[in-house]
Amino acid sequence: MRIVLVGPPGAGKGTQAHVLAKTLSIPHISTGDLFRANIGQGTPLGLEAKGYMDAGRLVPDEVTIGMAKDRMAQSDAANGFLLDGFPRNLAQAKALDEILAEWGIALDGVLDLEVPEDEVVKRIAGRRLCRNDGSHVFHVDYNAPAVEGVCDECGGELYQRADDTEATVRHRLDVYHTETEPIIAYYQQQGVVSTIPALGKVDEVTQRAIEALKSDS
Ligand code: AP5
Ligand code: ZN
Repeated sequence: MRIVLVGPPGAGKGTQAHVLAKTLSIPHISTGDLFRANIGQGTPLGLEAKGYMDAGRLVPDEVTIGMAKDRMAQSDAANGFLLDGFPRNLAQAKALDEILAEWGIALDGVLDLEVPEDEVVKRIAGRRLCRNDGSHVFHVDYNAPAVEGVCDECGGELYQRADDTEATVRHRLDVYHTETEPIIAYYQQQGVVSTIPALGKVDEVTQRAIEALKSDS
């Protein structure tokens, strides 16, 4: 299956993508994780992305679209993928359609995770990520690791993201409303959007997502 996950910062896209990708045996492709990996390795792409990310702004499309296309091509997009955090504006959504058309494939579904704003602020404030693998995501209250500061999945060190400050989160939410939300209407015109209420336990949300994908296919 070829799926896009949309939702505000902190909605649980990374958390759901990690489980759904395993369940559906498709690669989880997160542009945020790719940027953070580049920052960690000190690559030119990472250096360019860091300033935008720390400020809660979108990294320019020229950089992002090329990176996402390369990553999809590496994992043979025809066999399926789960995109998390891409596309994030109309230009990226149109570019993705062109890429998929070039490859002779199309999206099967777009899952729109809906969470109230006060909840996303709480989720982001308590989030901790694994240094070894950005898809290992925890929360100090809602999904605490067995040992504080240590990843349950691989023993890696947990850390707080540089862009998870309250001021940056507010700005990321503004960017989400102005730049990302319009892609939901764009995909609704293509008839591929399922809205998933994303409050409740992680596995309850996963179940809703799987049901929605079943009824799409
Ligand atoms: P990115 O990394 O994509 O961040 P984001 O979209 O802001 O989303 P988050 O990662 O903050 O949240 P999430 O929805 O994945 O939630 P999570 O599962 O972690 O992007 C970061 C930056 O990179 C952007 O600001 C931009 O600068 C740049 N960028 C990335 N992609 C780009 C693009 N395409 N174009 C341009 N720039 C781009 O969950 C959050 C917390 O909640 C966790 O602690 C988790 O444990 C907890 N949680 C999850 N589900 C539940 C639940 N059901 N109940 C209780 N707690 C839960
Ligand atoms: Zn880990």
